[in-house]
Amino acid sequence: MGLSGYKFGKLEHYGTAPKGLDMVKRKTVQRQNKSKRKTSTNSAKVKPARKTGKKNVRARVVSRELFSRRSSGGSITRKNGLAPLKFIRTNKEIKKYLAQAGSRRRKVALVPTMGYLHEGHLSLVREARRLASLVVVTVFVNPTQFGPTEDLDRYPRDISGDRRKLRREGASLMFVPDTPEIYPDGFQTYIEVTDVTRDFCGASRQGHFRGVTTVVGKLFNVIRPDMAIFGEKDFQQLVAVRRMVADLNMEVEVVGMPTVREEDGLAMSSRNAYLSPAQRQQATALFRGLTKARRLLDSGERDAAELAAVVLDLLREEQDIRIEYVAVCDPLTLDRIPEVEHDAVLMAAIRIGDTRLIDNIRLNARKSRRSQRK
Ligand code: PAJ
Repeated sequence: MGLSGYKFGKLEHYGTAPKGLDMVKRKTVQRQNKSKRKTSTNSAKVKPARKTGKKNVRARVVSRELFSRRSSGGSITRKNGLAPLKFIRTNKEIKKYLAQAGSRRRKVALVPTMGYLHEGHLSLVREARRLASLVVVTVFVNPTQFGPTEDLDRYPRDISGDRRKLRREGASLMFVPDTPEIYPDGFQTYIEVTDVTRDFCGASRQGHFRGVTTVVGKLFNVIRPDMAIFGEKDFQQLVAVRRMVADLNMEVEVVGMPTVREEDGLAMSSRNAYLSPAQRQQATALFRGLTKARRLLDSGERDAAELAAVVLDLLREEQDIRIEYVAVCDPLTLDRIPEVEHDAVLMAAIRIGDTRLIDNIRLNARKSRRSQRK
């Protein structure tokens, strides 16, 4: 999907209801028609045969490799037992599809994303597959969680690449709504988690978490998953979603998954694509700092300020890095703590040029005492 479809998003940054939807609706209808045409082939996409005089030989070979007809029902199924990835753009379609799936009492797992999928996202999809038989992955660059000066317009998008990856991972359904599906005309109702979203990323990105919890809450309502999988990389987001689920009696199990990293430790992120080679190199200081702090904990240091200081020192060595915060917190409440007695999370956010990166690491004093004794 090109950027232009989201340009109107400028009107709907934090706190304002979506506007300018006429133009958007026209585009949506065009897209829906296009997607209907596409999905009607039921994703059993076969490459056209070259015109050789022979009949569609290559097409038949490709389809035989990937799909086989179940002898009983006759529906198209992959040889590995999975149905082909369903691509859906509207709430109505998804409700219909899930109603059928629900009647068969299948467990549904949801993986909400903003797309441009990398191994971090795919690790969530794999966990979803392990936990449930029906895996829904949403790809929606949610305008309400971006501030007016943030990167909504340039946020990387690659719907066809994402679709390919999800097909390979065996996801059941890819939901790619247009903005009016999520924020219809006159939209004015938001979900706001207060205390745990105030500090850290919430302080520098006013309204960000309100946008996140609103869209996640809405996706829960549309999809009604049994479980939803999130990455610990966005630790404050995970805490906020858990809080929302508990506070609003939502019947969904929230599963947190460890951060997937590049070989040099940098946490995978769609935003890493913005970094120049020099910035990319400097970005490694973030995880180096966090692991250095953990080593300090292992050597017996419990003082939160001392642990944060080693991260700050390493980050300050890099010319292009501006530090937003480095904090040691209670992992449930996100209250800052003066000392690591048991379990804690060390979180940090930096800016390199225009790119904002976050990361965190768990600190566990008990575990580190054990490793000291060994
Ligand atoms: P996005 O940044 O696309 O991330 C989607 C999910 O992937 C989140 O749960 C995030 O924590 C997880 N994730 C990202 N990088 C990861 C990594 N390196 N390792 C493991 N998990 C990783 O987070 C969002 O989108 C949005 O805020 C969203 C929840 C979809 C709401 O719009």
